Amino acid sequence: MLPAGVFRWNRHDAGMDHHKPPRTVILTGAGISAESGIATFRDSGGLWEGEDVTAVATPAAFRDDPARVQRFYNQRRRDVIAAQPNAAHAAIARLQEAWGSEVVLVTQNVDDLHERSGSPQVLHMHGSVTALRNIETGEVVEYHHDVPEDETKWRPHIVWFGEQPIGSREIVEMLFHADLFIAIGTSGTVTPASNFVDIAASVGARTIEVNRDATEKSWAFDDCLGGLATDTVPKLVDRLLAAGEATNRAG
Ligand code: OAD
Repeated sequence: MLPAGVFRWNRHDAGMDHHKPPRTVILTGAGISAESGIATFRDSGGLWEGEDVTAVATPAAFRDDPARVQRFYNQRRRDVIAAQPNAAHAAIARLQEAWGSEVVLVTQNVDDLHERSGSPQVLHMHGSVTALRNIETGEVVEYHHDVPEDETKWRPHIVWFGEQPIGSREIVEMLFHADLFIAIGTSGTVTPASNFVDIAASVGARTIEVNRDATEKSWAFDDCLGGLATDTVPKLVDRLLAAGEATNRAG
């Protein structure tokens, strides 16, 4: 468990001196949806425990055994549809509402809990489990049902191992202009997302990690907030908004 309360906040640290919110990039991972009942990947009991990822999450797997892949993602889709957004998703939506387009939300999650919590903008860099992609035309359609296991033309709209994440170039561009970078509930083990903190830090952005545990990338952040996302994220958003109001009053 990361220690709680190592967070020192100073509004000057996040470029809040100019009467407008800091340019902020938020990256979320499976940990933000864990308390909504969606399994993470690498925790004990997580999706990749005992699962051969090459058998369900690669283009070769879909070619070789589409039924197994459709079955795996049908279950993921059912889990997402049954889940409800939690207080951490809601807090991020609140920050987006307050700071508008200065906040860019990037998620590695394939669930739609950010959208259902009211987030006005979400970039799904690993795709979406409630969408299908036509392997011939590339057309993407929203889809909230089970896919027949013999379906081979429509694949889950998921970025599989060996494929390019969606929007990488735009994300890197935004990181280069960020004042503040916040990573929430991600183990920092999958590139390119695990490198985002390095890019943000290289341009002098303040960097904050929010996670239940220390991660492989904790060392790279200015601050690490320990605890469960439903507790830490609303508190962090409260502090960010309070710092912004103080700045406005001071101005
Ligand atoms: P992981 O399963 O690798 O990591 C989840 C992180 O969430 C861990 O660091 C946990 O400590 C943390 N965590 C768990 N519960 C939490 C809670 N209630 N509050 C706060 N933190 C909590 O998931 P990701 O980092 O998102 O890719 O995984 C990245 C990618 O690897 C996924 O997008 C997926 C996977 O392969 C694809 O499927 C394309």
